[in-house]
Amino acid sequence: MEFMMEENERKAKLIFDHNNEEIELDNGSPIAEACEEAGVPFACTEGVCGTCVIFIKEGKDNLTEPTQEEKDFLGDGTTDERLACQCKIKGGCVRISF
Ligand code: FES
Repeated sequence: MEFMMEENERKAKLIFDHNNEEIELDNGSPIAEACEEAGVPFACTEGVCGTCVIFIKEGKDNLTEPTQEEKDFLGDGTTDERLACQCKIKGGCVRISF
């Protein structure tokens, strides 16, 4: 039982706001693939075009720091908008909309 709890703690959870779908990801995983499956559009996948912009509803601190590409595209200090092709989930829960 204890083992199972530890297992769960090593999983991060991405939640899509429009349908409350929850996707489990390993801590530290990129979120791009899960987002793409959920219907987020992608184009360049390199943080340049801005097609994949998502809005963080909850848990923004559970994502990795914005990359330089995100800062260039979204501006410095934006916290609620991210580029799905750029961020990774560190752990815990993150709720997004797009
Ligand atoms: S797909 Fe172009 S910025 Fe993410």
